Amino acid sequence: MDLKKEIREVPDYPKEGISFKDITTLFKNKEAMKYVTDVISDNFKEKGITKVVGLEARGFILGGAVANRLDAGFVPIRKKGKLPCDIVTETYDLEYGTDRIEMHVDALEKDDVVLIHDDLLATGGTAVAALKLAQKCGVKKVYFSFICDLEFISTPNKELLKNFETQILVKY
Ligand code: PRP
Ligand code: MG
Repeated sequence: MDLKKEIREVPDYPKEGISFKDITTLFKNKEAMKYVTDVISDNFKEKGITKVVGLEARGFILGGAVANRLDAGFVPIRKKGKLPCDIVTETYDLEYGTDRIEMHVDALEKDDVVLIHDDLLATGGTAVAALKLAQKCGVKKVYFSFICDLEFISTPNKELLKNFETQILVKY
């Protein structure tokens, strides 16, 4: 399936010069939704994944579906201030300023084999912050899955991610 055709590109959103990758058009198509869930699950089915970590918000959608297929648990990483119990937290850079993501400290164990999933890799800031949260819980084995990678953006965080087995479905 040509996934690029399923992802709507919205020019000048959220601001001029940005071509926004709208994955809602992929998710509303039941064949495309099934296809991406299958492709990700098949790729990781021999890896012994015990937990899929989904990044709020757009990483929750396939994260849950893939966790179910892999017979793994699902762990949400949330934006600041949303989780009720003891958390680990990481601050990461945005274009202007910083943001923070959080995970329950008891969400992952050191022996977990973790698949971190998000819809899109841009600067890699969110993904690397998620990696650090998993590592704060003592996790040793981490894989990554993204629907899209904006390859024209290269950053030190993306170089770091090259040390981890990563599945990308669509490159821009
Ligand atoms: C977008 C996207 C990724 C992240 C990628 O999420 O869904 O999570 O940015 O950017 P990065 O690689 O530069 O860190 P966003 O924070 O816009 O929020 P949302 O998923 O809640 O819509
Ligand atoms: Mg996101």
